[in-house]
Amino acid sequence: MCGIFGYLGYRDAAPVVLAGLERLAYRGYDSAGVAVIDGAGRMEVRKSAGKLANLTQLLEREPLSGTCGLGHTRWATHGVPSDANAHPHVDGTGEVVVVHNGIVENYIELKARLTAGGHEFTSATDTEIIPHLIQELLARGHSLPEAVRLAAAELRGAHAIACMHAGSPETMIALRIGNAGGVSVGFGSGEMFVASDLPALLPLTTSVAPLEPGQMAIVTPEGCEMLELDGTRIDAVRQTVAMSPIAAAKGGHRHFMLKEIMEQPESAMSCLRSRLTFTPPSVTLDELPFGPADIERVVFLGMGTTQYATRVGARMMEQLARLPATAEDASEFRYRDPVVDATTLAVGVSQSGETADTIEAMHLARQGGARTLAITNVAGSQAERGAEATLLMHAGPEIGVASTKTFVNSMLVMYLLAAHLGHARGALTDADAAAHVDAASRLPALLGEALDLNQGIYERFAASYARARRFLFLGRGLLDPIAREGALKLKEISYIHAEGMAAAEMKHGPIALIDDETPVVAIALRDALYEKMLGNISEVKARGGVVIALATAGDDAIEALVDDVLWVPPCPPLLAPMLAAVPMQLFAYHMAVHLGNDVDQPRNLAKSVTVE
Ligand code: F6R
Repeated sequence: MCGIFGYLGYRDAAPVVLAGLERLAYRGYDSAGVAVIDGAGRMEVRKSAGKLANLTQLLEREPLSGTCGLGHTRWATHGVPSDANAHPHVDGTGEVVVVHNGIVENYIELKARLTAGGHEFTSATDTEIIPHLIQELLARGHSLPEAVRLAAAELRGAHAIACMHAGSPETMIALRIGNAGGVSVGFGSGEMFVASDLPALLPLTTSVAPLEPGQMAIVTPEGCEMLELDGTRIDAVRQTVAMSPIAAAKGGHRHFMLKEIMEQPESAMSCLRSRLTFTPPSVTLDELPFGPADIERVVFLGMGTTQYATRVGARMMEQLARLPATAEDASEFRYRDPVVDATTLAVGVSQSGETADTIEAMHLARQGGARTLAITNVAGSQAERGAEATLLMHAGPEIGVASTKTFVNSMLVMYLLAAHLGHARGALTDADAAAHVDAASRLPALLGEALDLNQGIYERFAASYARARRFLFLGRGLLDPIAREGALKLKEISYIHAEGMAAAEMKHGPIALIDDETPVVAIALRDALYEKMLGNISEVKARGGVVIALATAGDDAIEALVDDVLWVPPCPPLLAPMLAAVPMQLFAYHMAVHLGNDVDQPRNLAKSVTVE
């Protein structure tokens, strides 16, 4: 969370930094700011609460000039989103400027010490103590790199930090402590860049050096020096990233989210490309560095929407590979001393590849001896760098903050992994494997059908249901996680409270919520649990509830039982979660549009959650 972008070179820094921040806005958009040092060593800061457009307007009114600049787009942790709390933060002399991603866990204690020493603070943030700490060390005669290094040693927690000093206008320092989101240096010709993640650098350079935890970079327009935070000099590990710049265009759609929902047939196709073999039929995953005999248990790690995808993945793994599999909330896993060993495969799933809890949970599993695999949409991300091997989702860039196509592609990759391991372990016969290859190959076309169904219905539903105060979402089996995801999609972009659960769970408490103002979305596809779902629907109807069913196209019988229906095309059983996700996404999308919400940047959220 929070985006950092820095520039040193020969161009006017502010527009370069602003464009970099635009590419990072998905990391947070509560407020933004930029600091520029001019040739005479004068530093000026502009910052503004709200989205980046506010900062752009401020810079139009009050431009900055200089070739060395540092910017930040914020997701608030300490202190409300406001001009004062926006980064960059400066020290009392106005000479040291800092942008920061992370939480200074001991900031109260540090602030008290600095305040007692005469420092005055103007914000409610934890970050503001950092420039003050650096200034105090500069005043004691330390060089800028040394002052930054010593200040960093005082901070508890995980951090990515970049800073400048007006007295050294051609130097920027970037450092990383733990996993609070990455920070990378980008190499240009006569110019250098610093950014929170690689995609933000790619329009400018593909030559990059991502910092590992405990590393610091001293960057000038000509290059960079790297050191460990204990002061040891190291060589910068430069790599060339083979990835094209993000084509951030809505392609005629009103929102990125809608574009990304509509792209799902194509993104599923990209995910399958070269992974399905037809003669003989099998799933080929050349990326895997372990054999089927090496693994006795699979632990999936993820958060949010992605964690719901892993719940589907774990069920698929048990069903197809007959391996015990669990889907873990990574934030809980990392603090509970879990049992893992060399026969455990820990699969960290993260579309961004930057989620702090998922990265740390993978790290913990690796320390416990587990084999590690990342499933991510971002090549070169921390998830990829921290795992033995990676299966890329190949969904293409996802800009909308609410995950859609990466949700479907995560499930698809886990389906392929389960089928591959199942076949390799002998849990699936050749004929079974062939059936799964055939099913997977039909997904792109079926996603296309799912997108075509229900034309015009979503808008009508939005008009009639947008005033509901809360929703319940019910599902069973592989569709229980889709009910949870449907509820999450609705609440994150429409701001209507929604709860998703296993349908049978409703009787154990939530049924008390049923009334005619609490619509229930029941996923009742024609699968092995269909009749059980009909029973749950009857229980809701018997209590005067309103039911919207998600049903298999052609199931005329269900129409008589419920108030409204959204259709899903008939499909092989293991594709059902991927197809049922589509109407859930479109339902939430149209509700949010009807309510006039900012669909692509919903309030309080960020696309990559780099603080725990
Ligand atoms: C919701 C959403 C989030 C993410 C979660 C994990 O639409 O996108 O719940 O799924 O923050 O993100 P990644 O997959 O990047 O680790």
